[in-house]
Amino acid sequence: MTHDNLFPTDFLWGAATAAYQVEGSPLADGAGPSIWHRFSHTPGLVLNGDTGDVACDHYHRYEADIALMRELGLNAYRFSVSWSRIFPEGKGRINEKGLDFYRRLVDGLRADGIQPLITLFHWDLPAALDDRGGWLNRNIAKWFADYATVMFRTLDDRQPMWATLNEPWVVTDGGYLHGPLAPGHRNLFETPIAAHNLLRAHGAAVAAYRAIGKNKIGIVVNLEPKYPASDNDEDRQALIRADAYMNRQYLDPIFKGAYPNEFPSMFGEAWPSFPESDFADIRQPIDFLGINYYKRGITKDSPNTIIERAIRVDNPRAVYTTTDWEVFPDGLTDILLWVRERYGKLPLYITENGAAFYDPPIAEGKVEDPLRVDYLRQHLLAAREAIRRGVDLRGYCVWSLLDNFEWALGYSKRFGIIHVDFETQKRTMKSSAHFYKDVIRTRGGALSGGRR
Ligand code: FCB
Repeated sequence: MTHDNLFPTDFLWGAATAAYQVEGSPLADGAGPSIWHRFSHTPGLVLNGDTGDVACDHYHRYEADIALMRELGLNAYRFSVSWSRIFPEGKGRINEKGLDFYRRLVDGLRADGIQPLITLFHWDLPAALDDRGGWLNRNIAKWFADYATVMFRTLDDRQPMWATLNEPWVVTDGGYLHGPLAPGHRNLFETPIAAHNLLRAHGAAVAAYRAIGKNKIGIVVNLEPKYPASDNDEDRQALIRADAYMNRQYLDPIFKGAYPNEFPSMFGEAWPSFPESDFADIRQPIDFLGINYYKRGITKDSPNTIIERAIRVDNPRAVYTTTDWEVFPDGLTDILLWVRERYGKLPLYITENGAAFYDPPIAEGKVEDPLRVDYLRQHLLAAREAIRRGVDLRGYCVWSLLDNFEWALGYSKRFGIIHVDFETQKRTMKSSAHFYKDVIRTRGGALSGGRR
């Protein structure tokens, strides 16, 4: 932190998206279907029957979208690669045209001085691999490392930063335990196996990168600081379980080589025994950690709730977003400090942070979204506070650059700082985009005047 209270000069100011949520044309140019293509085309699984068939049409409009990034003053863009564009069958045959799209995208970003932050897996597993068991099949660590290696060989010379996985916790909790997300399973026994194979895949990709890569590689996790609903002992124990499940499940194996001690009793008979050598494979040094922060969890004991035996309770005094997430900026400072305390001093990036609110219709070419402006202001101040307290925070990406396909909620929730008219594909910068632009231009100077 500089003495003038501004963000560091080399701070990365970014915006984030993910392939299936923005690209559209999921089967173009020889791509294979992903599990999200299959899931969204299964009636009843996504709100209003929405699909990613068109989404933001970023696949065709990426140049205009890069121009918007330039206008915002971004110096980073976080996006993901669709695995099944590169390997239509998930493995084996490479589809050059899929690689070409990402070559063009990355070259366009670099021409404008925008640092590419590339996520290799943001949930859109090739459907062909799901047919072979997906994350339940141990071979997936090799399939993922092979795909990652092709991406490293193709794009590493353009100096990107790489993230292996996005939010593995959501993949297993939403995709294997509770089922609102693809592949839509509901199976307690599958959940720790899928989690373990995600970790093995991450480790295998990092190991592959060390052999050929010259830049940086890390992983992106969603973290949610937990606070007890009361001082009683039950709620304090509940907090420890909820924290183990959500915050330590992936980071402990990556940084410490072991699962949280609480897991065997939390998973009960669904807890498998894993080969000891897996833990050395998982525990690969990484260059940075990406943290997605949206909300906190006020945690209450709940003996009948699966795994955590805890539930989240509401804060009656708080503002909630339209995804029912409590707005709690201090949680961002707290979680950044917690990561440093527990896992040591490695470079951190906020790889996602943002909110869905009811945006008013466009009036005179404007979208006024004061709640999102306030959300961004408060969270950026919370990030700055963490830096002031010594956290090595090197960048921030707002979720999201564009309104987009919000998974099972389809197009019903708008997270963009840029409004997308899904009929015409017209983009309109919301007030939050103009605000973010000012913040970037002034290195955070424009944040003052906020409530902190
Ligand atoms: C995160 C996801 C991202 C988006 C936001 C709102 O969990 O990584 O794709 O859906 O939530």
